[in-house]
Amino acid sequence: MELSKQELEYPQKLLNYMDGFLISKTMFAACELGVFDLLENEGALPSNAVAERLGTSTDGMDRLLTACVGLQLLQVKQHQGEVLYSNTDLSQVYLTKASPRTLYYSMAYYSQTIYHCFAFLNDAVRSEEEMLKFMQLMNSIWNICGKDVVVAFDLSIFTHIVDLGGCTGAIAKECISAYPQSTVTIYDLPKVLEMARNHFVSPHEKRITFHEGDFFKDPIPDADLYILARIIHDWTEDKCLKLLNRVNKTCKPGSGVLLIEALLNEDRTGPVTAQLYSLNMLVQTEGKERMASEYINLLESAGFKDVQVQRTGKIYDVILGRK
Ligand SMILES: C[S@@+](CC[C@H](N)C(=O)[O-])C[C@H]1O[C@@H](n2cnc3c(N)ncnc32)[C@H](O)[C@@H]1O
Repeated sequence: MELSKQELEYPQKLLNYMDGFLISKTMFAACELGVFDLLENEGALPSNAVAERLGTSTDGMDRLLTACVGLQLLQVKQHQGEVLYSNTDLSQVYLTKASPRTLYYSMAYYSQTIYHCFAFLNDAVRSEEEMLKFMQLMNSIWNICGKDVVVAFDLSIFTHIVDLGGCTGAIAKECISAYPQSTVTIYDLPKVLEMARNHFVSPHEKRITFHEGDFFKDPIPDADLYILARIIHDWTEDKCLKLLNRVNKTCKPGSGVLLIEALLNEDRTGPVTAQLYSLNMLVQTEGKERMASEYINLLESAGFKDVQVQRTGKIYDVILGRK
């Protein structure tokens, strides 16, 4: 589309876009501070009365009300030397909480949630790069803890292993190195496996294969042992049970399930790393770190037995259950 000479000299559209968030935030602030509700209940008021009723600064409220007039969310009139503000029809119908057609709760959600999420828009758009960074993070801890978790129990009786949510294949590599008879299938979402193939697992590694799927709904391939490393801690109790029940259904008698997680002490005294990780889970996921007894309960509720816990002395410990 060709630009007019006027647009070329003064890009009004871009200036409007640039101010877009100032406009939204002004409207959200007036809603959340209760300006429209107050004016609805009390009628036209001067700015200092609005400030006093809503407990704000006089100068700040005066500027907010003036900006709302510019945005046609408020109207202003002079009365006996005073400047009085009142709602426009638009704000009365849509921005007051009690109106049957209110949009107040949408405004509040946009202001308190979506506005903050948009701060990360660049990162979300650069998602492939972000995903690679996340996978590198997932991968690197196994440089120091990987061997310990796969040798904590003797897993040599399990010859075919499926690593559910196996991500970069770090645990798969540790398994084939510790157990020369084993083969491992990394099960993960398609886009994760594409990155794993491109960046982490050599195509010459014939003992590692890939299986794309969603472990909550797609078939889970046969194996003697299922590993779930840092998977259960991502999810709520219900989802953990759903997943473990699915694994149990797929298992033949004698097959195993190995959970690899950072365990909290039963007496809540530590370890501080796991306690901090649990806060991180709160911020980033639906899950949490758990105590060994909680993992044992989950495994037993999903039908596993002979559940044993092995501490490694490092960040991650292991829990083995059998069908
Ligand atoms: C916290 S990471 C753990 C990765 C790896 N097990 C480790 O410990 O390094 C969780 C993994 O689960 C995978 N995942 C999440 N939801 C999944 C699903 N519904 N089906 C299959 N994999 C899933 C993610 O793609 C990711 O690779």
